[in-house]
Amino acid sequence: MTTHIGANRGDIAETILLPGDPLRAQWIAENFFESPVRYNTVRNMFGFTGIYKGNRVSAQGTGMGVPSLSIYVTELFKDFDVQTAIRVGTCGGIGKTKLRDIVIAMASSTDSGINRRITGGLDYAPVADYELLASAVAAAKVHGVDYHVGGIATMDLFYDESRALDVLESLGVLAVEMETSGLYRLAAQYQRRALTICTVSDMIRTHEVTTAQERETGFKAMIEVALEAAFA
Ligand code: HPA
Repeated sequence: MTTHIGANRGDIAETILLPGDPLRAQWIAENFFESPVRYNTVRNMFGFTGIYKGNRVSAQGTGMGVPSLSIYVTELFKDFDVQTAIRVGTCGGIGKTKLRDIVIAMASSTDSGINRRITGGLDYAPVADYELLASAVAAAKVHGVDYHVGGIATMDLFYDESRALDVLESLGVLAVEMETSGLYRLAAQYQRRALTICTVSDMIRTHEVTTAQERETGFKAMIEVALEAAFA
């Protein structure tokens, strides 16, 4: 048991998918896992463990933003010995992305101050695990989904009226979300493997959004890519 995860050591698999939304964790378990067991209900931040193609796997909600994700991921790495963590989320598209595309995040820039606090002010570049990234790209190709590989940005504000997005777009950043720079830094700190895959749920410039049905279909393809990458 940790402060935020009411599970015993061993209840959580070495490989975990991390959606922001705990109900997505439940959806992943119900749709992709054999014999899923729910191991956490603390704060309704559900986590499940089951089997995918013979491999033990978990799915845990993280909440939104680097602070919330950091709580869960620190406990998963430190106390539950998770070795491979794949964030499966949504993101806002900028630049050359289109609605419903999958973005595989090589690195994540950020305006969050958390990593600088850890480094004492140095601009650390949080990057994905290369093997996971390469496996996810291979799985996305096989799957036939439209995907991009490149840099994203982890922003503290969802409702951002500043010029930050113009700068990010001019630097070729593909999408914005709210968790990855924290996940990649924690993976580096604990020497674990991490990757973020996200689907473009809204276009920042045009305000186009996916329907609930499209989000579900896009989410399904992304989970398949994530699980294939995890056990490649
Ligand atoms: N901003 C930040 N995070 C997001 C967005 C967004 O527009 N869409 C989905 N996640």
